[in-house]
Amino acid sequence: MSVIVMDLLFELSGEHQHLPMMEVRAVLETISPGAAKLLLQEPGLCVFSVEGISVKHLEMTLAMTRNILLREVTSKAGSFMEEAGKFLPKAPSFRIRATRVGEHHRECDLRHIVKELGRQYSKASRVDLEHPEQDLRVLLSESIHLCSVLAKIDSSSFQARKPNNRPYFSPVSLHPKLARVMVNLSRTRAGGKLMDPFCGTGGILIEAGLIGLDAVGGDIDLKMVEGTRANLAHSGARSIQVHLCDFQELASHDGRIDSIVTDPPFGRSATTAGEPLNKLMSRAYATMRRALAPGGHLVLTVPSEELVELGKKHFELVESVSIRVHKSLTRWLCVFR
Ligand SMILES: C[S@@+](CC[C@H](N)C(=O)[O-])C[C@H]1O[C@@H](n2cnc3c(N)ncnc32)[C@H](O)[C@@H]1O
Repeated sequence: MSVIVMDLLFELSGEHQHLPMMEVRAVLETISPGAAKLLLQEPGLCVFSVEGISVKHLEMTLAMTRNILLREVTSKAGSFMEEAGKFLPKAPSFRIRATRVGEHHRECDLRHIVKELGRQYSKASRVDLEHPEQDLRVLLSESIHLCSVLAKIDSSSFQARKPNNRPYFSPVSLHPKLARVMVNLSRTRAGGKLMDPFCGTGGILIEAGLIGLDAVGGDIDLKMVEGTRANLAHSGARSIQVHLCDFQELASHDGRIDSIVTDPPFGRSATTAGEPLNKLMSRAYATMRRALAPGGHLVLTVPSEELVELGKKHFELVESVSIRVHKSLTRWLCVFR
């Protein structure tokens, strides 16, 4: 059976400088280990050569990508029109649009590109602006890319799941997009088991459940446990067990765990149940290390670099980024192995 190899261009959302790219890489690594090769990374986009990957699966999984496109032509500005002129649409109808990614190629006239390529391509295919069978995009980043749109990621479902639209709300809740990215960074394979031992209102468990992962959660606060159960039922995610307990109990009771994705308390609005944060996190890292299957990933947010350093005593740090929440709060999102 032949395996389809494609160059996929991911048009990244501008929500964070690094997270969208980290998410794409992690998802490709998870669904097709070793089969995706990074060909190019430019502001706002990346191109991977992939083998045998379902674009539908990527569309249902990724949170911080805007569009998934098939890369047809990449060229420098000087030769783009000539290179793109060698391409012809393959479908009976097409549409073409051009967009700048950031501030690149201000000198290029987008209307001229669309008009000129549209004129050439209409010799082979019919223009249909409403329902084209091939939707072509010209993206002007450092290079210029001609692509066919394969999927548009629907971010309205993340908006609809915002914490204040759920039956139980608390200010500690993570935004669903960030929760989904964290789940994706954990590289949990289908059939694997994910744990959130500080589940709060259930944001991470909901996102794990919605992409079909097996998950278990716990929290020390009864209100949170009941709230998470209500939120899970409301979300339509698959059935997930939530326990009222200290994280240490959850980790020792639940057997083999393939990944841990969690957002421990910061000692501000989220309670540490009276335990000093450093002490709680020392205990948490040691417990999570014991609970995690060999090679499994821990993805978590912490409020200081000191707590990232503490994690390194127990795990290998794969990657970390800072996320500015507001003027006086920055979190570090870490992927440990
Ligand atoms: C930052 S919140 C988690 C928020 C969650 N990610 C969400 O989206 O709602 C941290 C949670 O840890 C819980 N917690 C604090 N100490 C704990 C412990 N020793 N064991 C388990 N949970 C604990 C708190 O009750 C709180 O709900």
